[in-house]
Amino acid sequence: MDSAAWWRDAVIYEVYPRSFADGTGDGTGDLPGLTRRLPYLRDLGVDAIWLTPFYRSPMFDGGYDVVDHRDVDPLFGTLADFDAMRAQARELGLRLIVDLVPNHSSNEHPWFVEALAAPPGSPSRERYIFRFGRGSRPPNDWESVFGGIAWERVPDGQWYLHLFDLTQPDFNWRHPQVRAEFDSILRYWLDRGVDGFRVDVAHGLLKAEGLPDVGYPDQMRLRSRAELPYWDQNDIHEIFRSWRAILDSYPGDRMAVAEAWVSPPTRLSRYVAVDEFHQAFNFDLLTAPWSAAAYREVVDDCLAASATVGATTTWVLSNHDVRRHRTRLGGGLPRARAATLMMLALPGSAYLYQGEELGLPEVVDLPDAVRQDPEFHRSGGRMPGRDGCRVPLPWSGTAPPFGFTTAPAAWLPAPASWAELTVEKQAADPASTLSFYRAALRLRRKYAGGTLAWHDAPANVLHFTGRGGVRCVVNLGRRPVPLPKGYRDPLLSSNGRLTDATLPPDTAAWF
Ligand code: NOJ
Repeated sequence: MDSAAWWRDAVIYEVYPRSFADGTGDGTGDLPGLTRRLPYLRDLGVDAIWLTPFYRSPMFDGGYDVVDHRDVDPLFGTLADFDAMRAQARELGLRLIVDLVPNHSSNEHPWFVEALAAPPGSPSRERYIFRFGRGSRPPNDWESVFGGIAWERVPDGQWYLHLFDLTQPDFNWRHPQVRAEFDSILRYWLDRGVDGFRVDVAHGLLKAEGLPDVGYPDQMRLRSRAELPYWDQNDIHEIFRSWRAILDSYPGDRMAVAEAWVSPPTRLSRYVAVDEFHQAFNFDLLTAPWSAAAYREVVDDCLAASATVGATTTWVLSNHDVRRHRTRLGGGLPRARAATLMMLALPGSAYLYQGEELGLPEVVDLPDAVRQDPEFHRSGGRMPGRDGCRVPLPWSGTAPPFGFTTAPAAWLPAPASWAELTVEKQAADPASTLSFYRAALRLRRKYAGGTLAWHDAPANVLHFTGRGGVRCVVNLGRRPVPLPKGYRDPLLSSNGRLTDATLPPDTAAWF
């Protein structure tokens, strides 16, 4: 069937439009800004863009709180701006997938406004999950991903479920109107020419019948090890099969990738059955510690799980929800580059997050007053939130906002030290992280397809043949290691300091 489809092997670049480039001078990134910078993405060498939400939204959760799934928020532009961006991307040979946010809407969505105005038990409440509580307590013990309980009480005494912020009521996916509405939204964007969708919280759409208690607190921390009645329900797959039929009814290789925080990988692979999603994000590499044993296990498990369903694996190190991998892995830029080089040598597709090609670190010292993430606010500051990976990109110049906007300031401030990390500066420096990403992506294109084979290696070293026969050696230890015999001449190394046929710590090389 789709063994040659573009996405099987693609490098897909995540654009978080609010922080990518501002074309209108109001301090917030937008579609005109993205359109202007598309040649930068072509030159970087990616195959496709995943554009996170740009729909009408009050922006309580960075646009993942949608009011109108068929329109562009004025903050980001207009539908005409979308069409212009789409056309320009196509001209440059870039595919485009957009976010679909089906688990919840904004509390300002017309259906939710209607539900609130209607009495308990009325049909318009059925499209969300309203219940009476237990005395003054909520209907069950479910917790919100962003901290606190997952229920909010409305004045007439009923509660509604919100697995995320209280401005994001969960839809009732057992309701036919919800299903029909999303079928129509899929068609709407497919008709507008998108190549596919990244589906938000795909594992959450259906909740267990009867909404049973979990029985213990701290559910989010334990979520990877536990079965929870609001994640990964067995009957969820029928919804995805119906979406796949819609995608398949369109010409071209349209695709869908699931955001499903589901483990183990065998459970995740159920989402990529031949008649469901084309791909699912694999977050195991992202959550693994910097250790050869851990990486090897993750790679083996992920490849084995996707092979059972004939899919290719997806690899991710950073996105708009997690600490940037330069900071998270704890080894600074060399380690981040080594991790990237290893990821790019693996068979399958890779998702990059804007700014990782500049080696941006997480901004850990944002003042509380500028933080916007509901995760920070709902947890009373206990969770740092995700603003630190969403700071607008530094394009040029020597002072904030670094060419991101013509306004005096961007919506989140960049540190002064990013003067060293601008696109302008790095594009002119062959030893920069940007030049390193460009070279790696150029080379990756030449070495397509292939399977993975491990080779013997000292402790803390990974040595494998990956995509297109590329040999990759990664030193995850603390001491330099001799390069494997016969491979003295690397095609690319993560920090360019390969001397005396040894591989320094936090370094990867392709041969
Ligand atoms: C996952 C998205 O990536 C994240 O940014 C968002 O907050 C939640 N889903 C809720 O939509």
